[in-house]
Amino acid sequence: MKTGIIGSGAMGSGIAQVLAGAGHEVTVYDNNPEAVLKAEARLKDTMALLTAKGKFTQEKASGLLSRIRFVPDFDALADASLIIEAIVEKLEVKQAVFRELEEIASPECALATNTSSLSVTAIAAACAHPGRVFGLHFFNPAPVMQLVEVIPAAQTDRDRIKRAVSWVKEWGKIPVMARNTPGFIVNRVARPFYSEALRILDEGLADPATIDRAMTHFGGFRMGPFALMDFIGHDVNYAVTESVYRASFHEPRYKPSFTQKDLVEAGFLGKKAGRGFYDYRPEAPAPVPSEDGALGQMIFKRILVMLINEAADALHFGIAEREDIDLAMTKGVNYPKGLLAWAEEIGVGECARMMDELYDFYREDRYRCSPWLRKNALQKAP
Ligand code: NAI
Repeated sequence: MKTGIIGSGAMGSGIAQVLAGAGHEVTVYDNNPEAVLKAEARLKDTMALLTAKGKFTQEKASGLLSRIRFVPDFDALADASLIIEAIVEKLEVKQAVFRELEEIASPECALATNTSSLSVTAIAAACAHPGRVFGLHFFNPAPVMQLVEVIPAAQTDRDRIKRAVSWVKEWGKIPVMARNTPGFIVNRVARPFYSEALRILDEGLADPATIDRAMTHFGGFRMGPFALMDFIGHDVNYAVTESVYRASFHEPRYKPSFTQKDLVEAGFLGKKAGRGFYDYRPEAPAPVPSEDGALGQMIFKRILVMLINEAADALHFGIAEREDIDLAMTKGVNYPKGLLAWAEEIGVGECARMMDELYDFYREDRYRCSPWLRKNALQKAP
């Protein structure tokens, strides 16, 4: 199958590698000729590295390279059967590109967007034939991460979605269906990992190193929230939080933190800037987490129950199926367990009780117990 990608940045190049790896012919277009050259050179380097490490045979690497071409010419996408857009995260720019795409693409061509926070319905609305538009949300790095969220727009034809799901499987990825709502599954359900950690910091209950240790040591998460935010970059992480907050009509659970806003304004963007919550300069002393086990347990349980509550709410509002919510968090962001399975392990009644305890103390809407937890707690009560 002939496929096209728009945008040769981190995601576009990664997705091209996935499609070419599955045997498709891929044309990658970018409107910045320099970005096109850079992406091509980067892919060659990646293939050389994977071959040197013995992860790819020479044959596999050259086969993959021969199936991808990088072009600065939009019309080169005309004969594709599927085009995936992975350009800058701005609605007006994406809408303009989809409008132009319809002028060159064949009427049967499926059009997908890799947007992480915009409305797929709003992007589809720019098209004369929105029934062929849907979201395919890959995770970074696309060749490594197994999850792909498939998001139908309000206008998408059912058949198009069925085909999208089978394509994702053919590419060796795991598809999960998500409703077109802010953050889809992963970027919505993961919000408390950051926001509750920031809240605990802002309340002066513990420092970043202690909170990070609580989540890795007691929770088994690969990275703590502050190390992860520093790694993602505060510009990116803050922008997603703000966008989900705005798009959810100011749901208090998604409220951004002034502490993180301050880091963005100061240019302390995390690891890439040498400074974020942690100081990455060579002379900086290593942070020392508190060894207080009771404090660590309290922090871990508080963040975990907020995550569980978020997953329960996503289920309550039909954002996705139960299995897909758990799959999304384990395969999209490497959580050690699915959150709804974790809820069963702890007991849904206990989770509801922990939420009520937080709510009783703070009296803030952000700590309200999800109706799904409440309903299931009542059903399971002796
Ligand atoms: P990036 O900044 O690395 O690459 C974007 C590329 O698009 C650039 O090379 C730029 O020259 C090109 N571009 C911009 N406007 C264009 C236009 N009108 N026509 C053609 N090319 C254009 O961005 P990245 O990180 O690859 O993200 C791309 C999309 O994927 C965004 O929608 C983002 O929200 C989404 N996404 C990003 C993830 C990430 O972790 N970076 C994860 C999942 C989705």
